[in-house]
Amino acid sequence: MSKEIGRRDFLKAAVAGAAGLAAVGTFGGSAFAEEAERFEGKPKFAGIGSVRAVTEDIAYIGVSDRRIQLFENVYPIPRGVAYNSYVILDEKTVLVDTVDRSVTGQFFENLTAVLDGRELDYLVVNHMEPDHSSAISEVLVRYPNARVVCTKAASLILNQFFACEISGRGIFVGEGDTLNIGRHTLTFVMAPMVHWPEVMMTYDDKSGILFSADAFGSFGALNGNLFADEVDFEKDWLPDARRYYCNIVGKYGDQVQAVLQKAAGVDIRMLCPTHGPVWRENLGWILEKYSLWSSYTPEQQAVMVVYGSVYGGTESAANAVAAMISQHGVADVAVYDVSKTHVSELIAEAFRCSHIVLASITYNMGIFTPMKNFLLDLEAHNLQNRCFALLENGSWSPVAGRQMKEILDRLKGVSYAGDMVTILSSPSDENRDALKALAEAVAVSVSEGASAEAPEEESAAGRWVCKLCGYVYEGEKFPEDYRCPVCGAAADQFEKQ
Ligand code: FEO
Repeated sequence: MSKEIGRRDFLKAAVAGAAGLAAVGTFGGSAFAEEAERFEGKPKFAGIGSVRAVTEDIAYIGVSDRRIQLFENVYPIPRGVAYNSYVILDEKTVLVDTVDRSVTGQFFENLTAVLDGRELDYLVVNHMEPDHSSAISEVLVRYPNARVVCTKAASLILNQFFACEISGRGIFVGEGDTLNIGRHTLTFVMAPMVHWPEVMMTYDDKSGILFSADAFGSFGALNGNLFADEVDFEKDWLPDARRYYCNIVGKYGDQVQAVLQKAAGVDIRMLCPTHGPVWRENLGWILEKYSLWSSYTPEQQAVMVVYGSVYGGTESAANAVAAMISQHGVADVAVYDVSKTHVSELIAEAFRCSHIVLASITYNMGIFTPMKNFLLDLEAHNLQNRCFALLENGSWSPVAGRQMKEILDRLKGVSYAGDMVTILSSPSDENRDALKALAEAVAVSVSEGASAEAPEEESAAGRWVCKLCGYVYEGEKFPEDYRCPVCGAAADQFEKQ
């Protein structure tokens, strides 16, 4: 271990102080706002458009990208995205994460201005995905004395992506390792599979900031506003924050839960993610959202109706059932055409809603292609604990319903409301009665909060969490000779969940 690196039992502190998520929300607030205001008045930050003070000695130097159309070449982001990066100015200087290659011009302007002639001593790499790491090579050239603080896994991936060998300049850290830079001491918290294996977070004890990598991030470019309390987050940002979490990280709920458990007892006063606004007030609100999403608990008792229709019969039936559900007093009903709605929007809605009505035509003796794509994406994102209702259509041999159920049965904690309705080309009078019965069953289930009460699937499988890094092993029996693939901890360092 490098002589600069100490050790702190972050996990033990978290468990000992287990104050719970609600308590975390009491930290932060106006003191930081006042501090930032004073800081921003200082000349070294003036006139740099995208630099903002986070505290009196921590600067935001991230850059927003409004030109990008598809994040990860998959997800439409009409509001753009911000790549967040931070500088800590102490006896030593620290850069926390970098940015995507598309915005390095503005990034290096910001970094140069904030360092104001000082050397860069450390670059902390919390996450190696190229939207945060493609500027690392240039940082290392521009600042030849900078040391790179990261996990060993991050260094391997850095080399794979950019043929960038940092071994001579690398400081490899694990759970609880610390780095003192003067007034600040940084503690490194492993967060494997949130959502890549090399991910860690960095906690600064002076400011109470958790530099949280992708966790608590959001799609959307920043518009001068940096802090979540400077915008109407629930109205303007929550849909994109939810869509970001569910699609990017959603599959790894267990690993997010492990990190939340570590965070529960720590004095976190700010969350500084790698995308989207910084949280300095009301942290409990966003932590609670993460607790719901990562445990696959519906955020709201709500119904989404998703239909796949070619000639209108299935669409008509879906609209009818939505209206009938609404007539039963369910206020939150949302209808989507699966052919016209990007699947990332559907995934986010599925994480929000407690009930999902699926209506599909039969196509090539199977499920309508975009509907099948949506259902397989639900499975890939590990959605659990939802109540479904099914409606199928077929002009001569309807099979879509049975095949949709085969996919849904593979999800954990699934329940069904009512009997599946089968339509032959267009809804008939007989169908109308069946649709009424289906709508009533869904509405009753919503009112009873039935999805939340759905029993856990009987399973012999268990989960064991690595006490050192949070890695989760799943299986029927924990192997005695098992070693954590992330931090190398032996089997006795795992705890059954
Ligand atoms: Fe924002 Fe996983 O990179």
